[in-house]
Amino acid sequence: MGRNSLLLLLALLVAFCALSATTVGGGYVDQYEGGGGGGGDMEPEEGGGGEEGGDSPRGNSKFLLQDSTRVVRTDAGEMKVLRGGVHRFWRNPMHIGLITMEPNSLFIPQYLDSSLILFIRRGEARIGHIQSDELVERTLKTGDVYRIASGSAFYLVNNAEGQRLHVICSIDTSDNYGWQWNRQGFQSFFVGGGLNPTSVLSGFDHMTLSTAFNVSTNELREIFTSQHQGPIVHLSGSRAPGVWAKFLELKEHQRLAQLKRIVHLEEDSKQDDDEEEEKQPTWSIRKFLKSIIGDENRDRGDKRGKGPDAYNIYDMKPDFSNNYGWTKAVSEHDYSPLRHSDIGIFLVNLTAGSMLAPHINPRATEYGVVLSGSGTIQIVYPNGTLAMNARVSEGDAFWIPRYFPFCQIASRTGSFEFFGFSTSARNNRPQFLVGANSLLQNMAGPEFAAAFGVNEDRLRKIVDAQRESTILPSASVAPPDNKLEKAKRVLDNVIRSYGNDMIMGFD
Ligand SMILES: *[C@@H]1O[C@H](CO)[C@@H](O)[C@H](O)[C@H]1NC(C)=O
Ligand SMILES: *[C@@H]1O[C@H](CO)[C@@H](O)[C@H](O)[C@H]1NC(C)=O
Ligand SMILES: *[C@@H]1O[C@H](CO)[C@@H](O)[C@H](O)[C@H]1NC(C)=O
Repeated sequence: MGRNSLLLLLALLVAFCALSATTVGGGYVDQYEGGGGGGGDMEPEEGGGGEEGGDSPRGNSKFLLQDSTRVVRTDAGEMKVLRGGVHRFWRNPMHIGLITMEPNSLFIPQYLDSSLILFIRRGEARIGHIQSDELVERTLKTGDVYRIASGSAFYLVNNAEGQRLHVICSIDTSDNYGWQWNRQGFQSFFVGGGLNPTSVLSGFDHMTLSTAFNVSTNELREIFTSQHQGPIVHLSGSRAPGVWAKFLELKEHQRLAQLKRIVHLEEDSKQDDDEEEEKQPTWSIRKFLKSIIGDENRDRGDKRGKGPDAYNIYDMKPDFSNNYGWTKAVSEHDYSPLRHSDIGIFLVNLTAGSMLAPHINPRATEYGVVLSGSGTIQIVYPNGTLAMNARVSEGDAFWIPRYFPFCQIASRTGSFEFFGFSTSARNNRPQFLVGANSLLQNMAGPEFAAAFGVNEDRLRKIVDAQRESTILPSASVAPPDNKLEKAKRVLDNVIRSYGNDMIMGFD
């Protein structure tokens, strides 16, 4: 880190200072759109096959997660996966999953090669999975976050009456050893199933299965060809009740008998198999199936098994709040299972027109999903050029590479709420670049004044002009256009100056 890096940082800071002083919701965006603004100068997207980096009507979208694949779609629900695309320099360690389930539906039992952190965005869910040798079953409500380890079989039920369930989840692919299974980037192993999805069991030789189940191959055929409704099924109602609904209607001891056979089969076959990879899943399946079947004397609370409860992000106090919004961060200290994934969670609510001040994540890459409202996201390259200035609204997802300076700005029309995951469970203390308590504020002194080539008083005056920290208000009066123009000129100047390795003054 030499003098140049320092200058670069300062150039960014000053640019942001100048801009934040004159920010106006839509107008701010407009200056980068059409007519050769900063955004128009961007290089075309590097690397990335399907990912679009060009300017679209809503702005440059380089860091939006636009590679969306619908991996499940049935009458009873759907699951979409958003990926960051392919990059020359890094592999995206995380995908974002969006699950929607109709009332009275079941996401049939499966295990994944990736660990999940679920966030119940709307509705209520019952989740069953295996953890530390035990079945854990929990009722999750809106705002809850909950982790499921890779290889651990789980099911998800929406049994709320008349209420759709919306879940946002992180799909952490760091456990899958770089398998590129398919376009969706991770692999589900369905424990149950038939024609669609295919059960992992149906891969076994028919005679083996028949022996293991102690039933005829004809009977087996029936089991493995009945389910055709896809991975999310209706549990009851007028629609055909699939195999799983029928299964769940069986008497407990019948379910036990049926599933025990499945479990034993898995175990037997594993003995001659290459054990390594699937050892844990098998173990999990056994535990898990026991749980679906239920012990004869299981208690029927909404909480079964040891292990941490879900953690509700709506119930927690904000880490920071002022008149312009609040931020919340869930770390491993709040919810210990995050430690295993090394993933943190955040939720931000900005009032109309406010801005989460320019900041960097020193330790984490960040993935966000817009929950409500609309706004813009700006990301800056290390060399001090604007990398993205995109308008986003509900349902859009974005990602921010580690170290890249960025800020989020709510549109003037209403509050802007976004939720996300960061790739560090430890307190990923973001460093704010602008505002009271910012890095610049704390470091401003003769050295920085010299670095900017202005005197200390001048620097102080600029740095102290913003009295708020972290979440900054919009400019109180919409500045006239010429002021915007001026702000843009300043930004351009500063960036250009940096290109020449010289920092110019502000005027
Ligand atoms: C297999 O099923 C038959 C009845 O169909 C029963 O007599 C026999 O004991 C069963 N064998 C095992 C190993 O469960
Ligand atoms: C976000 O803030 C707005 C007011 O600015 C409020 O109406 C809304 O309920 C807040 N959202 C959450 C989830 O608290
Ligand atoms: C800054 O870096 C980006 C990404 O590496 C590159 O596309 C762009 O051309 C660079 N801009 C300048 C002015 O060097």
